[in-house]
Amino acid sequence: MRPTIHAANWKMNMTLPEGSSFIHDFKEKLQNSSLEGKKVIVIPPFIHLDQLCKATEDSSIEIGAQNCHQANEGAYTGEISAAMIRSTGARYVIIGHSERRQYFEEGGEVLAQKIDMALHYGLTPIYCCGESLKQRENNESENVIKDQIKGELFHLSKDELKQLIIAYEPVWAIGTGETATPDQAQDMHASIRQYIKKQYDEEVAEQLPILYGGSVKPNNAETLISQQDVDGGLVGGASLNPDNFYQIVEAG
Ligand code: PGA
Repeated sequence: MRPTIHAANWKMNMTLPEGSSFIHDFKEKLQNSSLEGKKVIVIPPFIHLDQLCKATEDSSIEIGAQNCHQANEGAYTGEISAAMIRSTGARYVIIGHSERRQYFEEGGEVLAQKIDMALHYGLTPIYCCGESLKQRENNESENVIKDQIKGELFHLSKDELKQLIIAYEPVWAIGTGETATPDQAQDMHASIRQYIKKQYDEEVAEQLPILYGGSVKPNNAETLISQQDVDGGLVGGASLNPDNFYQIVEAG
């Protein structure tokens, strides 16, 4: 059985005091509830990692980063390496978010290298893929996703791939208030799983968590995440408020 995973992608939001206060409030909520079989990952800006790792040590909340550089170390002013992230205690890193693809022109080879670097330093990549509105309207969604996965993941061995979390995030649903319908999400997740099965095998395809991202809110989390191949949510806007994120975690 795959675990249900809820990841809070804060993007470039929350000061350090705001982030700490979120964790404080969220931990209080967790104390009164049982989240059996559910994993909660909070993904703050880099500079919060160390402090939030310490603040969550005594809880089941895990911490991740939003990006890493593809090189080991060196003269890359302003960049953060996978080793640095791991040294804070963080265990996860988002790779290939559509905002990185769109605003920082990341894709293909660079993302493949980032995945390798994350794995090398013991981080679990949360690998994002997704199509734009135009691509969906042109019925290209499935091919776009397959091209991304083929170019960015298929260099991995089966054992490496097993360590990943995939997030399907249709670009037209991110931050727009528009969500994929449960059927659209299920169809794409099933197709991703099928594609992985064809390239690798059933074992890895069946155990790979595939999260949905794109305007997940307390009122749609349950129907989305109850789909057979949807194993949780990567939540942006609604994860900035501890009440909303907690409701999503409880519902999904
Ligand atoms: P959203 O963002 O929930 O605000 O749509 C999701 C994401 O970009 O990961």
